[in-house]
Amino acid sequence: MLSKLEGKVAIITGSGRGIGRSIALKLASEGARIVVNDLDEEPATAVVGEIRAAGGEAVACTGSVTAAGFAERFVATALEHYEGLDIIVNNAGYTWDNVIQKMTDEQWYAMIDVHMTAPFRILRAAQPVIRGFARVDAEAGRRVVRKVVNVSSIAGLYGNPGQVNYAAGKAGIVGMTKTLAKEWGRLATTVNCVAFGYIKTRLSVVATDGNATARIEGRDIKIGVNPELMATVERTVPLGRGGSPDEAAGAIYLFCIPESDYVSGQTIMCSGGLTGI
Ligand SMILES: NC(=O)c1ccc[n+]([C@@H]2O[C@H](COP(=O)([O-])OP(=O)(O)OC[C@H]3O[C@@H](n4cnc5c(N)ncnc54)[C@H](O)[C@@H]3O)[C@@H](O)[C@H]2O)c1
Repeated sequence: MLSKLEGKVAIITGSGRGIGRSIALKLASEGARIVVNDLDEEPATAVVGEIRAAGGEAVACTGSVTAAGFAERFVATALEHYEGLDIIVNNAGYTWDNVIQKMTDEQWYAMIDVHMTAPFRILRAAQPVIRGFARVDAEAGRRVVRKVVNVSSIAGLYGNPGQVNYAAGKAGIVGMTKTLAKEWGRLATTVNCVAFGYIKTRLSVVATDGNATARIEGRDIKIGVNPELMATVERTVPLGRGGSPDEAAGAIYLFCIPESDYVSGQTIMCSGGLTGI
């Protein structure tokens, strides 16, 4: 029996760690050929190695999704290596929190750039490519459905104090999803979105000393969540726990498989039932 995504070409941003890594491994395990992206070369190369070791196909395209020319290079990598483009997952991102009165323009634009402008540029660069493939498919009488899955957050749907920048970016991607679902229907491409609740990754680990940082886009960004807040969040989740990166990847996968070919413009929450923070 063929795997669900046999031969498909998937490009996934931020797939060196966390949820993106799990998405890359999941789609590869179902037969997709993967372009792995991350800001950091070492984790991206490691994920490519994991996929190849399991018998899959993958190549890395490292660099920041916010860099000029990145979108074109990302799409070109898929075409050069695999001569196709079937699935785009806009996953790369991080948080840079502060209450509004202390938030700088730099903090604001960093979140808008990574969560909104980068997906916009990637999808803009992909449009002529997908249009070309869709035309060839139509002329050959083939029905091939391509897939875009964007990543939002419960903060984008319901708001979260200290995250006006992040919440705005994550709400923006929902609007982008709905609009492109309407523009790209004629390209036989579905465009959907998954909004995560609390998923246990580097971004959301319990901060042991309160001072953990990660070097992201040339800045040291505070990461982690304080233990009391985390305990409250976990108690509030109807399923009673945070999700794993593999569970998060499962929700993305639902929008990549043929069973969702007639679902477009939707945002689903993958949050263990949590509907607000
Ligand atoms: N973990 C959660 O609870 C949670 C909740 C809601 C939404 N999200 C979203 O899920 C996505 C993945 O987050 P995660 O929890 O897996 O975090 P993570 O830090 O574990 O992984 C994110 C990866 O993206 C990469 N990245 C960050 N900025 C990048 C850039 N400019 N260019 C290329 N790569 C970049 C990082 O290097 C990292 O490897 C993000 O968009 C995040 O906002 C996560």
